[in-house]
Amino acid sequence: MDRVLIIGAGAAGSVVAKKCAMDRETFKHIHLASRRIESCEKVASETVTPIEISQVDADDVEATAALIEQVKPDLVINMALPYQDLPIMDACLEAGANYMDTANYEPREEAKFEYKWQWAYQDRFREAGLTAILGCGFDPGMTNIYCAYAQQEGLFDEIEYIDIVDCNAGDHGKTFATNFNPEINLREVTQDGKYWKNGDWIEIPALSIRTMIDYPEVGPTMSYLIYHEEEESLVKHIKGLKQIRFWMTFGDEYIKHLDVFKSIGLIGLEPIKHKGMDIIPIEFLRDLLPVPSTLAEGYTGKTSIGVILRGTKDGQPVTKMIYNVSDHAKTNEEVGAQAVSYTTGVPPVSGAKMFFDGVWSGTGVFNVEQFPAKPFLEDVSERGLPFHVKDVSANDQAALFDVDT
Ligand SMILES: NC(=O)c1ccc[n+]([C@@H]2O[C@H](COP(=O)([O-])OP(=O)(O)OC[C@H]3O[C@@H](n4cnc5c(N)ncnc54)[C@H](OP(=O)(O)O)[C@@H]3O)[C@@H](O)[C@H]2O)c1
Repeated sequence: MDRVLIIGAGAAGSVVAKKCAMDRETFKHIHLASRRIESCEKVASETVTPIEISQVDADDVEATAALIEQVKPDLVINMALPYQDLPIMDACLEAGANYMDTANYEPREEAKFEYKWQWAYQDRFREAGLTAILGCGFDPGMTNIYCAYAQQEGLFDEIEYIDIVDCNAGDHGKTFATNFNPEINLREVTQDGKYWKNGDWIEIPALSIRTMIDYPEVGPTMSYLIYHEEEESLVKHIKGLKQIRFWMTFGDEYIKHLDVFKSIGLIGLEPIKHKGMDIIPIEFLRDLLPVPSTLAEGYTGKTSIGVILRGTKDGQPVTKMIYNVSDHAKTNEEVGAQAVSYTTGVPPVSGAKMFFDGVWSGTGVFNVEQFPAKPFLEDVSERGLPFHVKDVSANDQAALFDVDT
């Protein structure tokens, strides 16, 4: 296995294509397709070895299946938007290809993301003898694999509490910009929050719980409890779990803009009339905001993302943090991308390598924590995302552990 078709030539998809093109021993044939051929041409002009490109509208199952039949990939890596997950999975089934993505399906008409739509493909992928690997970015992706590593390598006998902690302490110099697709990002952070405790999902108003978290190489930063999709699969796959929460940092400027956008209806999904035309407010706002792939130049600072795990080992309480720190300027120097795109785009390359080598195998639909974690983490460390494991004392994260949820 050595043929890959990447769909989506945006901020993160360009990183996947560029990193694959640096490893021709693994990826002998690389094909990049996207809605606009110009996006592919730009990426192809920047890869270190030549790649093939095509235009495709991945909402169109027949067109995507025809492309898959023409390219004959061993794996399709979906780096387009969550809206395209189901059509691309349908096209893979029709044309007989394996599938991977970095974000779970979202219906356009409702800001809601759940695995149920993609998990429902289990029987169809299994019967077709194909593999679908879900959520192989950073979060979801690396964060799931950090938890799996702690469980599989015996760092704990039982992991009881998981806090996924995501800090971008970077400065892109813009008044307001999102680090990945603005429409998807704004839908995610303006939803009500949710966390899981003792078997129940507990809903909270959006951004209503916050605390200081001490991030490696960044320091204490205000972090907000939001819902994130990997919580749904980790609840199923980590044994002994009592609670899982997800925290993300937002600066005051970001929150201020978000409040204004929300209060005047700019995040709305329902069409409004403008000069006789139907306009969806969030799509209009998306088109006003900077495209994430344009943020890389001059971006300074670091991302610091990981998991804080509390549980037991040999009858004793244990707390550990597993994390990666990436530097925006360094990732830009390497592949012309800011660190959020880089940390999203490198894991699918390692995931593809695991799949090609048979280290990750099986037919059906899988979340990444169901596969061996250690070989993946060794591979991804060499490709640019090293991980660290450190012991955490109660004092180190006192504010986080004090939050009453
Ligand atoms: N797991 C993680 O850690 C993580 C983190 C960040 C983002 N993500 C996910 O990564 C994905 C890409 O994010 P991004 O920041 O790279 O966004 P982006 O820069 O907006 O890129 C998305 C790309 O998708 C392409 N696209 C959109 N609709 C398409 C269609 N119908 N057919 C074919 N291509 C289509 C666009 O193509 P054109 O340029 O050709 O129009 C665009 O370049 C999203 O699903 C996002 O949720 C995951």
